[in-house]
Amino acid sequence: MLLLLLLLFKRLLCYGASTVAPLHLGFHHSASEEPLSYRFIQISSFANHSWAQTQSSGWLGEVQTEVWDSVLGTIRFLRPWSQGNFSKEELKNLQALLQLYMHGFTKQVQAFASQFQFEYPFELQILSSCQMHAGKASGSFLYGAYQGSDFLSFRGNSWKPSPGAGSQAQNVCRVLNHYRIVKEIVQNLLSDTCPGYLAGLVEAGKSDLERQVKPEAWVSKGPSPGSGHLLLVCHVSGFHPKPVWVMWMRDGYSILPILICLTVIITLVMLVVVDSWFKKQSSNQNVISPREPNPVFSIRANIQDPTSPGHQLCLTQELWIKNRFSKNWKTSLKQLW
Ligand SMILES: *[C@@H]1O[C@H](CO)[C@@H](O)[C@H](O)[C@H]1NC(C)=O
Ligand SMILES: *[C@@H]1O[C@H](CO)[C@@H](O)[C@H](O)[C@H]1NC(C)=O
Repeated sequence: MLLLLLLLFKRLLCYGASTVAPLHLGFHHSASEEPLSYRFIQISSFANHSWAQTQSSGWLGEVQTEVWDSVLGTIRFLRPWSQGNFSKEELKNLQALLQLYMHGFTKQVQAFASQFQFEYPFELQILSSCQMHAGKASGSFLYGAYQGSDFLSFRGNSWKPSPGAGSQAQNVCRVLNHYRIVKEIVQNLLSDTCPGYLAGLVEAGKSDLERQVKPEAWVSKGPSPGSGHLLLVCHVSGFHPKPVWVMWMRDGYSILPILICLTVIITLVMLVVVDSWFKKQSSNQNVISPREPNPVFSIRANIQDPTSPGHQLCLTQELWIKNRFSKNWKTSLKQLW
């Protein structure tokens, strides 16, 4: 019975088969209709006065395009098209700016830690992003978090404390807003550099991003959930882009007949159990040979054989149980009378 429920559960979860429908969405489609974003993520950990570590990476949607190498102080491009349409000169300038920023950030945070009431150890996270919709720049933002909670943001042309971050964030923003040059650079990066880079990135990476790779799917036996039960696992991998539609079907049968069959089988199995209980109660012996396969095991054998159609399985089970049941039931009734 557990097997039946397990199978039913699996069917509902991973409903489909070895023939898998291809992707229903291409990247081009989403590029023109859904917003695309470039994100630059920075995570800085400050263990004590003298120890700090920063990890930074750039992302086009779900695809990581670059990582900051903090040892060499360079941008490491992860895709052949990660440089977008920026020239060598522009990339060199950007890298120099990032070097200056990464070094300065750690030094300044350490210098201001006590004034800002940052308590060691602490973690700062910065997310800067710009978006594109229907080929046009559609906004950018920068958020900062302290110890995993919203702390501040950069909006318009100034630093704003996040609601709920309290006087500590207000104090930090008041100090940061004194640095006019920094604000101008941040504003410029968000409103010009980022959208330009994003547009170039989408153009340069077009063929890679738009490639359509069909998923591969296979079914395997999972770890046994217990004796007499079978767990089937449906695997789908190797596809691109991310949206995928998978159906697990057996001989094209819909879920309804399977559900009906399963309900019938479950009911009949229960009746057989009641039946054998009656038998035990009676003095009559050797009605059922213990060698006879019980329904659960027969079903398992059928499932393992992919050529046996589902409805046949249901019918045979039904007939077999009906025959046996009616025979035994009659015997039991006779005994009762
Ligand atoms: C600072 O933190 C680092 C990393 O946890 C540790 O190795 C180092 O000993 C600490 N230094 C001091 C002075 O506490
Ligand atoms: C890169 O391409 C985008 C869109 O085609 C354009 O808006 C941007 O100015 C270009 N940038 C450079 C540096 O050529």
